[in-house]
Amino acid sequence: MSMHEQPTSFAFTPEYLAKANIIIARYPQGRQQSAVMPLLDLAQRQEGWVSTAAIETIAAMLDMAPIRVQEVATFYTMYNHQPMGKHHVQVCTNICCQLTGSDGIVDSLKFALGVEFGDTSKDGLFTLSEVECLGACANAPMMQIDDDYYEDLTPESARAIIDAFRQGQTPKPGPQNGRINSAPEGGPTTLTTLSFSSEKA
Ligand code: FES
Repeated sequence: MSMHEQPTSFAFTPEYLAKANIIIARYPQGRQQSAVMPLLDLAQRQEGWVSTAAIETIAAMLDMAPIRVQEVATFYTMYNHQPMGKHHVQVCTNICCQLTGSDGIVDSLKFALGVEFGDTSKDGLFTLSEVECLGACANAPMMQIDDDYYEDLTPESARAIIDAFRQGQTPKPGPQNGRINSAPEGGPTTLTTLSFSSEKA
């Protein structure tokens, strides 16, 4: 983990505090610790990452020892532990994505952003991460930007998506090659008739 300055304090904004209180109220009296993961998520949505100060604030809100909150925050890779760019670009390089061209996607993203994995672009807009399978193998190769999946990528479409974000747009998530969800490319290959007969083609 790279060295970075830790803020000395953390407080939820009124908007996020209201969300936190709604989440805490879901759990029975004495079980408020169950809210630890969504509260860490809220802190991350507010700040972009989870600082030690945020962990201490959440621990106090849930009557937990800070180390217990720290254990949760460091167990799950979805919590960031250093300041992030405005957008988090997570590119999958696991087996299906690797076999369908993630090397080219990675090269394209590194070139477009001018960064290596773990770095944030100079304009502060993007942090690039390499991740394991994100469960969208049928639409490999893919990347996640913030909460959305961008799938069926080519080096060119990956680059175009970054350019669109740079201009303040949010490109349409999902397959970038025109297919619908994870339907076969070129259209359906089974269940193509309305008949239920067992006739062989
Ligand atoms: S291997 Fe990339 S989404 Fe599964």
